[in-house]
Amino acid sequence: MKNVGFIGLGKLGLDCAEVFAQHYKVRGFDISARSSDTVEVCDIATVVDHSEWIFIAVPTPHEQGYDGSVPSSHMEPRDFGHDAVLDAIRNINHHARASKKVVLISTVLPGTTRRKFITELDAHHQFLYNPYLIAMGSVKWDMVNPEMVMIGTRDGDRTALASELIDLYRPMMANDPRYVVGTWDECESIKIFYNTFISAKVGLANMIQDFAMRIGNINVDVVTDALAQSTMRIMGRKYMTAGMGDAGACHPRDNIALRWLAKEYAIGYDMFDTIMHAREVQAANLAQFLVETSEANGNLPIVIHGKAYKPDVPYCIGSYSTLVGYYLEQHGRHVMYVDPLADDQTDVISDFQKPAVILMAHNRVITYGYTGVDQEDAHYFEFQPGSIIVDPWRKLDAVAGCRVVPYGNSRHTT
Ligand SMILES: NC(=O)c1ccc[n+]([C@@H]2O[C@H](COP(=O)([O-])OP(=O)(O)OC[C@H]3O[C@@H](n4cnc5c(N)ncnc54)[C@H](O)[C@@H]3O)[C@@H](O)[C@H]2O)c1
Repeated sequence: MKNVGFIGLGKLGLDCAEVFAQHYKVRGFDISARSSDTVEVCDIATVVDHSEWIFIAVPTPHEQGYDGSVPSSHMEPRDFGHDAVLDAIRNINHHARASKKVVLISTVLPGTTRRKFITELDAHHQFLYNPYLIAMGSVKWDMVNPEMVMIGTRDGDRTALASELIDLYRPMMANDPRYVVGTWDECESIKIFYNTFISAKVGLANMIQDFAMRIGNINVDVVTDALAQSTMRIMGRKYMTAGMGDAGACHPRDNIALRWLAKEYAIGYDMFDTIMHAREVQAANLAQFLVETSEANGNLPIVIHGKAYKPDVPYCIGSYSTLVGYYLEQHGRHVMYVDPLADDQTDVISDFQKPAVILMAHNRVITYGYTGVDQEDAHYFEFQPGSIIVDPWRKLDAVAGCRVVPYGNSRHTT
C-alpha cells in the first residue's frame, strides 16, 4: 500500500487526508493538535520519512481586513502569505532521506511557485502543483467529484510524475473528472480565475436582483433561470476565448446605458463601469504591446487587419479595432486598417506592401465557428516578409517570412 503524507491538517487538509486514507496509508502533521480515526497524526520527521507522496495543505493567508467581509478595494493590494508553505518545504528538505514526490495544494497567485517555492525545494525531490476546487461544507464530496483535477508541471508536460498522480487519484474519484495538465503558472491561474469567474457570475446575478427590487415586476429567478439555460452563448464555451474585446452595436453600448440606470436606481455600485473600464485598459494594453513590438523592430508601421467589429460585416460601430487604434494614436502612432468591407473608411487602406506589425483583429473561425459552417480564414492583403503578425486569438499557422506572435500565450516568450 502506498504511503501518503499530509502537512497541514486544517479545514481542507484533514478531510482530504481522510479521503486518501480510504485507499492508502496516510500520516499527517500539523503545528496544532489534530486527531483522526483514519489518519495517523505524527511528528513532521515521521511523516516526511515514511511518505512517498507528501501533500502540502498549509494556509496561504491574506492580511487582516482583506477577506472581503469589509470594504478593501480602497486598500493597498497585497499578496497572500507564503511562510507556512516555505516552512513545509524546508521541513521536507531537512527530514527527507530519499527523493519525495511533493504536491502543493494551497492556493497561490499565478507565478508564485516558480518565483518563490521551487527554488527552495532540494533538487532531488519531484514537485507538482495541484490545487483543489473544494468548498467548505462539502470537502470530502468535492474532493472525489471534482469538475477537473489540475496538475501543474514545470513545462506543462504530462510528465511521468503527473501520470502517477492521476493513477493515485483514479481509484478515489466518484466521477470521471477531467485531468488538466499545464505549467505551474497555468494551474495557479486556472484555480484562481475559476474562483474569480464565480465571483463575477454571482456579482452579475445579484446585480439583476438589485434591479428587480428597484424597478418592480421582475422576479430575478425568471431572469437568471432563462439566462442559465442559455447554453448557446452565456453558459457554454462561447466568449471563453480571450482575444479582442466585446464589441459591436449592442454590448458596449448596453453596458454604458446600464451605468446610467444603475445611477438612476441608486444601486450603490457601478459594475458596468468596471467592465467597460477593464475592456478599455485591455485595449490599451494590447496597443502598448503593438507599440513595443514595433519599437523593438526598427519602428515598423502598425496595421490592423479588420476595422469593422467583426469579419464579413461592414459595421464599425462599437469596434474594438478602433478602440485599440485610439490607444495607438495616444502613443503618437499613425494607425492604418485593412478591411474591404468597413463602412467607415477613415485610415483604411487596401494594401500595405512593406513589413509591418499586423494585428489580426478578425478571425472568422472564432467569430463564426460555432455555426458549424466552414469558415476559411482569408487575409485581406498579402503580408510582406519581415512582418510581425500579432494574433490575439492564437490560431494562425506560420506565415512564410513573417513572425507570428500568439498574444496571450506567454509560455514561450518569457
Ligand atoms: N478551505 C477550503 O475550502 C480550501 C479550498 C481550496 C483551497 N484551499 C487552500 O488550501 C490551503 C489551506 O486551507 P485551509 O482552509 O485548510 O486552511 P486552515 O487554516 O484551515 O488549515 C491550515 C492548517 O495548516 C496548519 N499549519 C499552519 N502552518 C503550518 C506549518 N508551517 N506546518 C504544518 N502545518 C501548518 C494549521 O495549523 C492548520 O491546521 C490554503 O492555501 C487555502 O487557500 C482551501
